[in-house]
Amino acid sequence: MAKAVIAGNWKMHMTCAETREFAAAFRPLISDLPDDRQVLIAPPFTAIPTLSRHLEGTGVAIAAQNVHWDEKGAYTGMVSAAMLVEHGVTHAIVGHSEPRKYFSESDEQINLRARTAQKHGLIPILCVGESLDQRETGETERVIHRQIEQGLEAVDPTRLIVAYEPIWAIGTGKTCAADEANRICGLIRGWVGHKDVTVQYGGSVNPATIDDLMAQSDIDGVLVGGASLDPASFARIANFR
Ligand code: G3P
Repeated sequence: MAKAVIAGNWKMHMTCAETREFAAAFRPLISDLPDDRQVLIAPPFTAIPTLSRHLEGTGVAIAAQNVHWDEKGAYTGMVSAAMLVEHGVTHAIVGHSEPRKYFSESDEQINLRARTAQKHGLIPILCVGESLDQRETGETERVIHRQIEQGLEAVDPTRLIVAYEPIWAIGTGKTCAADEANRICGLIRGWVGHKDVTVQYGGSVNPATIDDLMAQSDIDGVLVGGASLDPASFARIANFR
């Protein structure tokens, strides 16, 4: 059986000094994790070497918060897949709603990012999800179906994670109800067309909501923002029952 994947997305938080403090506090709290789960953390690019050094031997894998679609070139401010692999990174988030919003990332670009990630042996974590407006106007399924269809063209579904992150639940403290998150994750699994694909839920996951979310049949893991910055909270999430 595939492992549950518990991932932290630190976004633009954590200097190297803060990363060292986090690792020192987090390490003992995850020393007895059951074998049925994998923990990942996506720190800012600058903290990747520090985090991997300070969590060495814990089994925690390092993810990138994005990856460029091209191999190399004149892309000021960007980071390539080969550069990430060189630092031991194993996963890369693509299509998160924040770069979709702030940098107008298109589904086509996101698709290329996912393909380039796989070409270099990275597992893409494709984020999809609807806005509040889209939910209220009944467009949720259509929007997510399009993000899956376009985002995953020519992407190998056996080396992939999809994260359902409803935009209205991100950073708002409003976790999507577990049964509704499960329903959408089930639809995503069907649209991906590979029953063993790992489907995560993300959006205000916290120690109080994790057990209910992980008890759902179609939720194979979580992508955690705010609560992953606190070692005790993230360790409690990783130690879900
Ligand atoms: O990628 C994780 C995310 O966007 C959810 O953030 O802070 O609501 O857990 P948060």
